[in-house]
Amino acid sequence: MSGPACPTAPAAVAPQSFLNCLGYILTPQVWKQAQQAAGRRRALRWQRQPLILVLLVMTWCAGDSLPERFETARAFYVACHQRRRRPGKTFAGFEKALGKMPLRVLRAVAGAVRQRLAAVFAERFRVDGWIPLGCDGSRLACSRSAELEQRLGVRAKKRRRRKKKIGPAGRPGPKPELGPGLPENPKKPKAGPDAPQIWVTAVVHLGLGLLWSWRLGKGTASERVHLRQLVATLPRGALLVADAGYVGYALLNALQAAGLCFLIRLTSRAPLYVPDKSALKHYCEGLVYYWPQKVQKHDLPPIPVRLLRIRGDQTDVWLITNVLEEHRLPRKTAGKFYRWRWRNEGLFRTYGDQIAAVLVEPIAGNMGVVPPGPDFLEGLRRMTREFGSLLVFDEVITGFRVAPGGAQEKYGVAADVTCLGKILGHGMPLGAYGGRRDILGMVAPLGPVYQAGTLAGNPMAMAAGQATMSQLRPSLYASLEKRSAQLETGLRDAADDADMEVQVPRVGSMMGIFFGPEPVRNFRDAQAMNKTTYGRFFWALLKGGVYFPPAPFESFFLSSSHRGPEVERTIEAAAAALREVRNS
Ligand SMILES: Cc1ncc(COP(=O)(O)O)c(C=O)c1O
Repeated sequence: MSGPACPTAPAAVAPQSFLNCLGYILTPQVWKQAQQAAGRRRALRWQRQPLILVLLVMTWCAGDSLPERFETARAFYVACHQRRRRPGKTFAGFEKALGKMPLRVLRAVAGAVRQRLAAVFAERFRVDGWIPLGCDGSRLACSRSAELEQRLGVRAKKRRRRKKKIGPAGRPGPKPELGPGLPENPKKPKAGPDAPQIWVTAVVHLGLGLLWSWRLGKGTASERVHLRQLVATLPRGALLVADAGYVGYALLNALQAAGLCFLIRLTSRAPLYVPDKSALKHYCEGLVYYWPQKVQKHDLPPIPVRLLRIRGDQTDVWLITNVLEEHRLPRKTAGKFYRWRWRNEGLFRTYGDQIAAVLVEPIAGNMGVVPPGPDFLEGLRRMTREFGSLLVFDEVITGFRVAPGGAQEKYGVAADVTCLGKILGHGMPLGAYGGRRDILGMVAPLGPVYQAGTLAGNPMAMAAGQATMSQLRPSLYASLEKRSAQLETGLRDAADDADMEVQVPRVGSMMGIFFGPEPVRNFRDAQAMNKTTYGRFFWALLKGGVYFPPAPFESFFLSSSHRGPEVERTIEAAAAALREVRNS
């Protein structure tokens, strides 16, 4: 829908300020669609546009109460639109005007924003020919107010504790068999027994981590019903990826009727049939029919689906899809979308309240260089926030190296605690950690956690660190990027010339080499790369006077001392070493 009013901007001219960002998504076209949905009715003190803008901006405002956030958002609106008529002053008036605005107006804005997002993210929106959307639901506890208790109800039933089956020797017995290799997803309700709860079902773009559409309901709502209501929001070309809770005739039929595709984890309870209408006994990949008994009684037709088996870390997982032709959705692509959908989440859903913290190198440097996949860090941030765990970034390698603010600046994801070293002390023995005030307040002398070290605050290391900090200018990062790109290209070209399959992952001045045909996305991929060839390459390179890390699980870095001649020499030596390895 990009017209003259909403150009698809390349990254270089991406909006800079918050106001720019809002204007970039809320284009005149979006407002036109809201206007059409609203018809003529108008609230007196609150026109539609300020009403919606203030409502939106409130979600970004800090403040303990809604009226406080309203004050900030309104002030922002007034400051940015000085020539426009001032909207009403009171929160009560704002709430009243909002209450009068038909829901279809907000839906029209959301629909228009979705079209805009599809245009803005143009090439990244489709992945392997699909728009991969994940769907999931969560139950959230609300504060106990009389109004919420009345609207949402309270859960009369307390959560029943399941008695553990006792096996031999008093240990808990084995879990009941769920079907062929099917780990069911044990979602534990998070709230206390009687707090009012809401259920939110959300659809998210799996590649971008972008929230696409959502539905809110009472804590007892059904996510399948929610998703059926969201079908109209799903774009053509969408592939909906969901867990076993979404297997249901009405929903699958609605998706099918809307011309949408799904890829859903199979539940062992799903009644499947083979083409001659006899029940499927053993799972095997290929065409089957989903046909619950109740549906058969009403003479409704079965839904043809394809069974797919995806290799998991521990067990294999079975999925069903209505994309019957394998070439349109090969197993490899389906496996990728499945993994995107379940990345990290399975662990959190199972052990959420026991995970105190997630510690991660935001760009892995200790298994070779493995940059984070799309939405990996954002996903960790989301999940750790949802489950109240801390997110700790080990930026010992990446801190000050990939940007002055490390990986957190580069990827725009803030950790709760950050560990630093290496560049921080310019090679002197210096490490540091920092983080949220409330967490660091736990350390002595403010808090009960005692921490000390022989070299802590060592004056020489601190002086070296301070001198390093003074050198971290944008020009330094620009020249490091230039030289590192030169080295990366040189190594790749040398590998091509030597007819060797090589990966050269790089983020800024941090890079590595793997011998193998496929890019490395995780530790398993890294382990599968050819270590013997790397070893030969290392020794051949050392003979040529260049000392690389002795294993492919280490990264190497450029510093400001590496200038053009050093980079060229390294490329020449690598080219000779690669030829030697190939001929050996
Ligand atoms: C990412 C990362 N974190 C932590 C460390 C270890 O730091 P220390 O030796 O201070 O324990 C290293 C060491 O190289 C590292 O690469």
